[in-house]
Amino acid sequence: MDIRFQDVGYTYQKGTPFESKAIYDIDLSIKDGSFTAIVGHTGSGKSTVLQHLNALKKPTEGTVTIGDRVITNLSDNKGLKSLRKKVGIVFQFPEAQLFEETVGKDIAFGPKNFGMTEEEGLEKARELLPLVGLDESFMERSPFDLSGGQMRRVAIAGVLALEPEVLVLDEPTAGLDPQGRKEVMNMFHSLYKNKGLTIVLVTHQMDDVAEYADHMIVLEKGTVMKEGHPREIFKEAGWLASMQLGVPSTVKFAHELEEKFEWTFDPLPLTTDELAAQIIEKLPTKGGASV
Ligand SMILES: Nc1ncnc2c1ncn2[C@@H]1O[C@H](COP(=O)(O)OP(=O)(O)OP(=O)(O)O)[C@@H](O)[C@H]1O
Ligand SMILES: [Mg+2]
Repeated sequence: MDIRFQDVGYTYQKGTPFESKAIYDIDLSIKDGSFTAIVGHTGSGKSTVLQHLNALKKPTEGTVTIGDRVITNLSDNKGLKSLRKKVGIVFQFPEAQLFEETVGKDIAFGPKNFGMTEEEGLEKARELLPLVGLDESFMERSPFDLSGGQMRRVAIAGVLALEPEVLVLDEPTAGLDPQGRKEVMNMFHSLYKNKGLTIVLVTHQMDDVAEYADHMIVLEKGTVMKEGHPREIFKEAGWLASMQLGVPSTVKFAHELEEKFEWTFDPLPLTTDELAAQIIEKLPTKGGASV
């Protein structure tokens, strides 16, 4: 399912003395089957944009097209429930949304809401736990006795339980340790690769953008500054630095090697495998000149 924004603006508390415009003139497109990363400073509008992806917010200006649904300020709420099943959002700090007495019931809550029986919902929960790296023994545990990382996995399973076509993730690895971060990111990547989910990821981790995304959107002060392939956008290290946004460690290392040895990396390596392959090509073969 493709999602498209045309001239989208959103103003919080419109029509009150407290109104504040969060996003302006946003044009962007998220293609079916893509892995899109959205980056930008705090307050740049990332979470506001995400809430338009399943019509949780309606644009105050412009048009959001989600599959064949066109959402404007004037749209009614008919059929939005099915849209929210297709586009699942895992919010920033999703653990705050857990509330049931057991992990199983928490994951089953969404499916029940969409017409599954309690038993079917629990069965679904049992199926999903291993996918998010938890075993069946978690079914009967209280979500409130878990670690932060485990709570997050339960909240993610709750969204996956609705079998969305598009999975939207708002800083899903914030606050996790490096190992937890890697596990959670690998999980999303395998959902993308193996189940064909479209993924939209908000992150501050440029290494994750480089490793996983095939499309990137840079937001600043409520507008889209750049949209394109990460390989193109990360070429502009100077521009990114001027925006106080970094580049992935692979790109940084490649630039250091370019300076030190007058090498040229082409195409720009994004993953460690790509970087390693180009370094090996450049290294002198046995008996050749040394660097
Ligand atoms: N509920 C709200 N009421 C009024 N203004 C809000 C509300 N939520 C966000 N804003 C404002 O809208 C702008 C965009 O906020 P948003 O939360 O979308 O940014 P963000 O990029 O997700 O930031 P962060 O990286 O901190 O999560 C900010 O200026 C913010 O203060
Ligand atoms: Mg946010």
